[in-house]
Amino acid sequence: VTRIRIDISTPLNSGYDVTVEPGALRTLGDSIHSLVPAHRYALITDSNVAQHWGGAVLSALAAAGLTTELITFSAGEAQKSRETWSALTDRLLALGFGRDSAVLALGGGVVGDLAGFVAATFMRGIPYVQLPTTLLAMIDASIGGKTGVDAPTGKNLVGAFHQPRAVIADPETLSTLPEVELRGGLAEAVKHGAIADSGYLAWIEAAIVSILSLDAATLTGLILPSIRIKANFVAEDTNEGGARAALNFGHTIGHAVERASSYGLHHGHAVAIGMVAEARLGEALGITSAGTADRLANLLRTLGLPTAIPAAYPIDQLIGFMASDKKARAGDTRFALIAQPGEMARGPAGSWTIPVPAEAVRSTLSRIRD
Ligand SMILES: NC(=O)c1ccc[n+]([C@@H]2O[C@H](COP(=O)([O-])OP(=O)(O)OC[C@H]3O[C@@H](n4cnc5c(N)ncnc54)[C@H](O)[C@@H]3O)[C@@H](O)[C@H]2O)c1
Ligand SMILES: [Zn+2]
Repeated sequence: VTRIRIDISTPLNSGYDVTVEPGALRTLGDSIHSLVPAHRYALITDSNVAQHWGGAVLSALAAAGLTTELITFSAGEAQKSRETWSALTDRLLALGFGRDSAVLALGGGVVGDLAGFVAATFMRGIPYVQLPTTLLAMIDASIGGKTGVDAPTGKNLVGAFHQPRAVIADPETLSTLPEVELRGGLAEAVKHGAIADSGYLAWIEAAIVSILSLDAATLTGLILPSIRIKANFVAEDTNEGGARAALNFGHTIGHAVERASSYGLHHGHAVAIGMVAEARLGEALGITSAGTADRLANLLRTLGLPTAIPAAYPIDQLIGFMASDKKARAGDTRFALIAQPGEMARGPAGSWTIPVPAEAVRSTLSRIRD
């Protein structure tokens, strides 16, 4: 199987196909026009992805007779801004794009979020297709329809829900991805196993060597179930508030660690640390089954990811960052914890998050520092 259907029903969208297929970008022209018929296409990408894959995608589209403009911006999270959004929409207007056009977002999560937000807002919304080229974008950012940009005061503060018409992931693009990015994406795949599917977790444990050697069939086998897991949580909870919180496993402590590093640590690497810490926290509270944290730590370490909180980060600062996290409410910090590998723990009244007093967090964090 290389294609799964995602049923995220919104008033404007009844679901869409996600294809994961080695070589899919080289044959893109055949599928794009039927998936999203348009008069013209804006292929939006960043400077790195343009260099590696822009030419191949452009020629695939040209070979199918599609009129396409390549629109590029400088790579990096700093470009996920209203300024770049402005420049991209101005460029579309200058090129005479109208309602009968469509956006193709070729790149990692930065391109997907930004180009998706351009598609969500240009002429009050035009269709778009996600063509994710990082592992993180394939299994996480391209799924779920969240688009947007950062603001000076925080990430993802301005945006819109806008579901793509399709997601097409070509695992071959991962061959040019820097290793730190690949490993960061692997952390999110482990997270999907940890929160929803112990069989998938065990599959990753057994496939580590072929995953790291980028074997195409193995990558497809890694990516598809991961997308399915994310999509299931999103479909249950399209606009957030319930089940989607499970996807925050590892992220409450992970975000604090990421902030303590002044964003020098890659998000996925911070989440690896966060998952181990939150599993240890769950074990200390009697919520997570004993041995879970060690199992996750072993797997993540073998995948080349960090698992301990760097000693240089003051615990008080980390706790402070958690309290100002948008998921914290009234004193206690709420955590999405797992009961055991593959299964979420549920809080009071079936809630997907569990309030934990700062003292319990503090005592776990002080035990598990480097
Ligand atoms: N919308 C969502 O639901 C959602 C979910 C998770 C993350 N995100 C967002 O995703 C972003 C992070 O995404 P990311 O990790 O993909 O970062 P990214 O898009 O910045 O990509 C990472 C780096 O890899 C480069 N790159 C991408 N594909 C490449 C390839 N195939 N070969 C060589 N280089 C390549 C990029 O140019 C960039 O330098 C963040 O802005 C985050 O907020 C969104
Ligand atoms: Zn994440």
